[in-house]
Amino acid sequence: MDRAKFEAIREQFRTEAKERMDSSAIYELRKRYLDRKGGLVNGLMKEMRNIPAEEKAEFGQGVNQLKDWVLENLQKMEEKARAQELQHRYEKEKIDITIPAVKIRRGNLHPNTQVKNQIVNIFAGMGFDIYEGAEIETDYYNFTALNTPQDHPARDMQDTFYLTDEFLLRTQTSAGQIHVMEAKKPPIKILSPGKVFRSDDDATHSPMFSQMEGLVVDKGITLCDLQGMLDVFVQKLFGEGVRTRLRPSYFPFTEPSVEVDVSCFACGGKGCRLCKGTGWIEILGAGVVNRKVLENCGIDPEVYSGFAFGIGIERVAMLKYGINNIKLLFESDLRVLDQIND
Ligand code: PHE
Repeated sequence: MDRAKFEAIREQFRTEAKERMDSSAIYELRKRYLDRKGGLVNGLMKEMRNIPAEEKAEFGQGVNQLKDWVLENLQKMEEKARAQELQHRYEKEKIDITIPAVKIRRGNLHPNTQVKNQIVNIFAGMGFDIYEGAEIETDYYNFTALNTPQDHPARDMQDTFYLTDEFLLRTQTSAGQIHVMEAKKPPIKILSPGKVFRSDDDATHSPMFSQMEGLVVDKGITLCDLQGMLDVFVQKLFGEGVRTRLRPSYFPFTEPSVEVDVSCFACGGKGCRLCKGTGWIEILGAGVVNRKVLENCGIDPEVYSGFAFGIGIERVAMLKYGINNIKLLFESDLRVLDQIND
């Protein structure tokens, strides 16, 4: 029998298998030798026809041995390659825990949002509900129902952005008072935060700013209730020991109307730059709800009374955080905003 043929295939396999091979090269090698159709070892079987009958058994055995030998070698190679490839992957995917971490910048809430949340929290603790109205209002809700008819001189106090004769950008969150009183019968206790708009622009005024409206309507509500509640409010917002002072003022929708000052929380009332030497800082407008406004909403002023107040959010933020220009609150400069995290 032609043993030399077997030896030649063995030798060829040894030479080819010498190179370092990865799994896919080994797969090709396996095909080249053991493929059922074109494989070199399997190809030997085709020669069986030409082998004399008495040698057939021995030849077949020889082919099988060769096949086993090739298979064994391939398996060893495959195992080795697989182990190497795994090792390679482990190394490639290794994480260096000594590399300095990427710094994650933590943002904070905008000062306006901080102040708004602080105020909301204080009043929520006193049982107020939140009502958020719309920024586009009708003339009726922003003015007329608030006892400010078309020819009323108080309309000049607020430079209004009219969209049409009927629609406007609300100049005050007070418009929400009417919506609430139309929808709900007393007792009413709501807080209404939102953006308002006025044609006004300087260091302390912006055409868009935010207010927080408060409204309480029930039996027997007086100006004393307003002041008592405001005393609690300013102490929580600015610190213990801060007092309030009411000065007479005028708003069409409240009677009497007051301007509310707080004792200066920077100097304690001695007089400083913040309070311009007066010891007091104006903080909000308020008053007892005008009977006419209650009537406009179908609430009987002989039975019910109420108080309302409106506070400017940016103004509080500026006072609290020592900001001297309202524009800083709208420019989104992180160097400014990063400094305010209450
Ligand atoms: N709406 C008034 C303003 O914007 C503030 C205010 C609200 C006054 C409620 C009294 C009562 O100036």
